[in-house]
Order: sequence, then C-alpha cells, then structure tokens
Amino acid sequence: MQASTVGQSVAWGKVILFGEHAVVHGHPAIAFPLPQVGLTATATPSPGPLWLTVDIYDGPLASAPPMLAPLRATIIATLDLIGREPRNLHVTCIGDFPLERGLGSSAAGAASIVNAIADLTGDDLSRPVRHSLVQTGERVAHGNPSGLDAYTVLSRSPIWFQDGQAENIEVNLGAPIVVADSGQPGDTHSAVGAVTAMMRTNPEEVAGYFATIRDHTVAARENLLKDERATLGRRMNEVHEALRSLSVSSPHLDQLVYSAREAGALGAKLTGGGRGGCIIALARDAQHGQDLARSMEQAGALQTWILNPEEFEK
Ligand code: PMV
Repeated sequence: MQASTVGQSVAWGKVILFGEHAVVHGHPAIAFPLPQVGLTATATPSPGPLWLTVDIYDGPLASAPPMLAPLRATIIATLDLIGREPRNLHVTCIGDFPLERGLGSSAAGAASIVNAIADLTGDDLSRPVRHSLVQTGERVAHGNPSGLDAYTVLSRSPIWFQDGQAENIEVNLGAPIVVADSGQPGDTHSAVGAVTAMMRTNPEEVAGYFATIRDHTVAARENLLKDERATLGRRMNEVHEALRSLSVSSPHLDQLVYSAREAGALGAKLTGGGRGGCIIALARDAQHGQDLARSMEQAGALQTWILNPEEFEK
C-alpha cells in the first residue's frame, strides 16, 4: 500500500435486527448497516503529542476524558502494531453519530480511525487484524463484545454473525425499517453485565430466552430472503418480549415500541445494548415508513431514520 499525506476513512452506523445479547453468548445475530449516520476519520502528521479531535474533545490523547478510553485503546494498539511512537500525529473523527444509542458509535469511531491511520502509513492491515484492533477498544467500551458491531460498521450489506464469523446475507425485504431514537443514552456495558449475572442466578430461564431469540433469528433469515414481512414483524415483537425479560429494555423504549405497533408497525423491538438508545419498527410499505417515522416523533422520539433494505449492496 502507498502511504498518503493525510489518511482518511469513513464508517457508519448499524442496527441489530435480531440476536442482540444472545450473540455475546455464541448465538447468531442479524445486523444491517445504517448509512444515514456516519463518521469520517483523518490521520495527519503533526509535531508534538498525539492529538485527538472528536465532536466532544480537542486535545492531547493522553488527557482525553474517560468516555474516550475505548478510542484511545484502539489508537495506541494500532500505532503499537505498526511500530510507530504515539506522537507526531493528529487524529480526527467527526460525524453526525448520536453517541450511546445502540447504533455502534464506539465501533464506528474505532474502525474509521484504524483505517485512517493505515491509509496514512500505507500499512497493509488484513481485515482480521483491523477487526481485532477495533475489538481492543470495544472491550474497553463494554467488556465482552461479540464483534458484530466491528463488522457491520464497515459493511455495505446485511450481516449474519456468529462466534466471531461474519457473512453477508441476501435480503429482499420490500418495506422500510424505521429507527427511532428514544433520546436516552443506552448502557450496553451494564446491560451485558446484567444478562451475564442473570445467567449465573437463573441459568435455565436465561437459556430459554436465548433459545427463543436464536429460533427467531434463524427463521428471520429466511423471512428476510422471501420478504415475509408480517411474520418478520411478529418475530420482532416476540424478541422484544424476550429482551424485556432479560431486563435490557426500559419504560421509555417499551413506550416507543408500543406506540410503533399502535401506529401500524408490523413489529417493533429495541435494538442494540438497550436500557436506552433506539428501537426499530417494521413498516408495511414505503409510504407507511414515512407515516410511521412521523408517528414515532409525535410519540416522543428525538429523531428517526428510515432504513430502506432495497438500497443495500447485494
Ligand atoms: O449497544 P451496541 O451498539 O454496542 O450493541 C450491543 C450489542 C450487544 O449484543 C448487546 C453486545 C455485543 O457485543 O454484541
């Protein structure tokens, strides 16, 4: 690879359709890229201490606030791997990404920065190596990441993910998915920890919820291929109930989910780590997608995005 004078790269958001939390414990998950939210990272040689500019901070990396510890871990690991001193570099990462909403902001930030640094230095890092550098930060962000986010924030296609392996899947869904932001920060770290703790205290009950989520995830892959929307919607509703039982929903998320169903969504559920963040709702068709997004805003969503699966790369 040729080195550049400025390294640059982009990454985008993701929504998990099926399988969040269960995926941390070896079950499958399905995730879609969310290109409507994105980040652009740059890496530029600059004399002095390693400098970081992001939406919420502009200063030496070493003094960055704790919220940026995941990014810091990824940057240090990347420079270490390619044999560069952690100085004489300015890294930026800017975008329109809402933080802590279960849309993959930490993975997208890390992935875009790894790629920008590699673009600057010309180091030819393989996909697994880049993935493991993103995972270094994700481990700081939420302890035991499945690795799903790190793949989806760089993918242009829907992803099937299990046991650290990702593959693209064919989706022929002819109706949009509305993503609605509750406006409340999620807490993936505490939610993942709570599920793991519940596995210790109530192993059989949790195994039952995971089995429900797994069965819907496996069947949903076929429904997505065949555009079986009504069935898919029912599965989303049932998975939301399983996630509620795992204690990762919140009153605010539940209220948005119920409002989406009242507004005619074929199904709705929380997406991502939960305890705040976003919900997803399956519309009946394109026109209903617009109406549903408006209804979600009237029901209190801070903002909405309409995800049209027909725009994914096949
Ligand atoms: O909240 P997010 O965007 O970090 O998504 C977390 C998804 C989980 O399944 C809860 C955790 C994981 O590592 O897959």
